[in-house]
Amino acid sequence: MLSQVAQTMHKFVKQCENKQVLNLYNQIEQGKMLRSKLILLIAGQTPQAVELCAVVELIHLSSLLHDDVLDEASTRRGKPTIHILFDTKTAIMLGDVLYSKAFSQLSLIHKDVAYCISSAVTALSIGELLDIELSKSFNTNQELYMDMINKKTASLIEASTKSAAILSNKDRDKFAIYGKSLGLSFQIIDDILDITQNSETLGKPAMSDFKDGKTTLSYMLLYQELSNDDKTKLKSYFKKSLTKDELSWIKNNMTKHDILNKTKQIARQLAQNGLNAIKNEQNKKLFDIINDILNRER
Ligand code: FPP
Ligand code: MG
Repeated sequence: MLSQVAQTMHKFVKQCENKQVLNLYNQIEQGKMLRSKLILLIAGQTPQAVELCAVVELIHLSSLLHDDVLDEASTRRGKPTIHILFDTKTAIMLGDVLYSKAFSQLSLIHKDVAYCISSAVTALSIGELLDIELSKSFNTNQELYMDMINKKTASLIEASTKSAAILSNKDRDKFAIYGKSLGLSFQIIDDILDITQNSETLGKPAMSDFKDGKTTLSYMLLYQELSNDDKTKLKSYFKKSLTKDELSWIKNNMTKHDILNKTKQIARQLAQNGLNAIKNEQNKKLFDIINDILNRER
């Protein structure tokens, strides 16, 4: 069924009637399609659900095109990013073409779904803005981090599960809570993988968040545990290209204070909130997908 989503995305891009757009689009590596998996599990495999999936995936793809420009990322999913293969202007405009086309298609679906998804795009754009603001200095405020990942990542996942519930006449509020909780734990796990995995597995450089100014949850939890001298040391490493020894110092301290388990426990608790919201649903796969997210290694 995910292949039908990919085909529909391709059909939408073809409808833009521009060879350059199609050519650029064909060079983007497809992702895990988490949002589509959720939509299809909740709404069932209907043609309308597939169209919604294609819309959401195109929005997600365009947000990543813009994100890679903003983050100056040279690889994604193990391949050079579009702004490296071509240039920044091309990557931004391709993103604009893809998400505006997605919006045209969205306007043909369901009024409530259109409102839900388009509002999520406002939220995710604000989330990205917050991410940029937070990256300017070492952040120790967990609330600000949670608000940022809620907007940047959870908003579109929440809108996807809620919209799928709208399309299939299910309880939209419960599925919104499920999507939001799952989105938050997804991002927290993503931030852990930046610390634990190598660049080959990640398809992008390892341990790059802190260097890029992102004080993710594990760094905040570590900071709380450190002595004053070590707090100063950690802060001095912020937004710098670190030596092997300096990276080891961070990793060793994370191990010493059991930080990654503590971070994962927060992701687990959030996931549990999501599961509680849909506990009366007879849909085992919605439970499995949360476990896949918690246990994923890439
Ligand atoms: C990845 O975060 C980025 C996002 C989830 C959202 C990006 C949103 C925008 C750029 C707003 C513009 C929106 C549209 C629709 C054009 P990350 O950098 O933490 O993750 P990564 O490691 O996968 O890059
Ligand atoms: Mg990024």
